[in-house]
Amino acid sequence: MTKKIAVLPGDGIGQEIVAEAVKVIKVLQADGLDVEMNEGLVGGTAYDETGSPLPQETLTLAKESDAVLLGAVGGYKWESLDISVRPEKGLLGLRAELDLFANLRPAILYPQLADASTLKADVVSGLDIMIVRELTGGIYFGQPRGVRTLDNGEREGYNTLVYNESEISRIAKVAFDIARKRNSRVCSVDKANVLECTELWREVVSDLGKENSDIELSHMYVDNAAMQLVRAPKQFDVMVTTNMFGDILSDCAAMLTGSIGMLPSASLNAKGQGMYEPIHGSAPDIAGQNVANPLATILSVAMMLRYSLDEAAMAERIEKAVDKVLDQGLRTADIYSEGMKEVSTSEMGDAVVAAL
Ligand code: IPM
Ligand code: MG
Repeated sequence: MTKKIAVLPGDGIGQEIVAEAVKVIKVLQADGLDVEMNEGLVGGTAYDETGSPLPQETLTLAKESDAVLLGAVGGYKWESLDISVRPEKGLLGLRAELDLFANLRPAILYPQLADASTLKADVVSGLDIMIVRELTGGIYFGQPRGVRTLDNGEREGYNTLVYNESEISRIAKVAFDIARKRNSRVCSVDKANVLECTELWREVVSDLGKENSDIELSHMYVDNAAMQLVRAPKQFDVMVTTNMFGDILSDCAAMLTGSIGMLPSASLNAKGQGMYEPIHGSAPDIAGQNVANPLATILSVAMMLRYSLDEAAMAERIEKAVDKVLDQGLRTADIYSEGMKEVSTSEMGDAVVAAL
């Protein structure tokens, strides 16, 4: 049966990078990949056209699809809007409505890019970490939240960090299962020394660890984890953590690999439905200039093929093609180093298509 992909380019460079990923999907379609693509609006672009960053039509499209390919959302233009209709709400709404609780963010260093990292090559060479970020709970969604005015007239902002046991155990299970297919190590990151909520997190993960005794489980406070990521990142195999800690640590891990422009992600629900997006943002400063790196989005298509479309061989083809263009010395500006050939967004996409 034809599988459905909802294509949501969003804002800023989202438009350009998704266009390159679509080129790649079209090549695979010609080679027998049985998918249908339908485009929808999300983020600031959707707000401009419909008054909502997540129009009902887009939500329906996403729910009826096997997978969603998303570019990025946000931009200066919408920063002064009320938080309830900001572009980011489009993305958070999709995550919540589709119950995409498991966010997989691999940080892999391509050997060709060892010199592009700001860290010494020997610290990062061979790096292969999987960050498993909880995506539909925690402080991002906790109630109550808001800004209130106190009796003395001063304003006070507040958010709530909340996790129940089942939310913790379902994300921990995902981490254990992934570790089993990798190097069988899970590091759970929390702030159990200060926050009760993550003290519970640690307890639940530890209990699950006993049922998964084939996996080596460790725990780390988030401040230490941030330090260890830049000090000795290769000590990690799978890291599992809360929504906000995962947001922060995954940007940090991304930079180890040379550029945030290289990292794909998958956000999955219990039914195997997934949303696939680069982990970087909409980069309004370079939007429309045809200079953004499309590889994170193209690699997100590979994750989509693997996790939602059951096409592992095609996923591998994409990954090999990316490897090949890097071997050819082609680099977008963010991963450029001396002696390489600098290419535009569309040239990079064309090169991947050719390498396929
Ligand atoms: C990410 C982004 C989002 C997040 C923003 C755009 C809402 O930073 O996917 O990491 O904070 O989750
Ligand atoms: Mg982020």
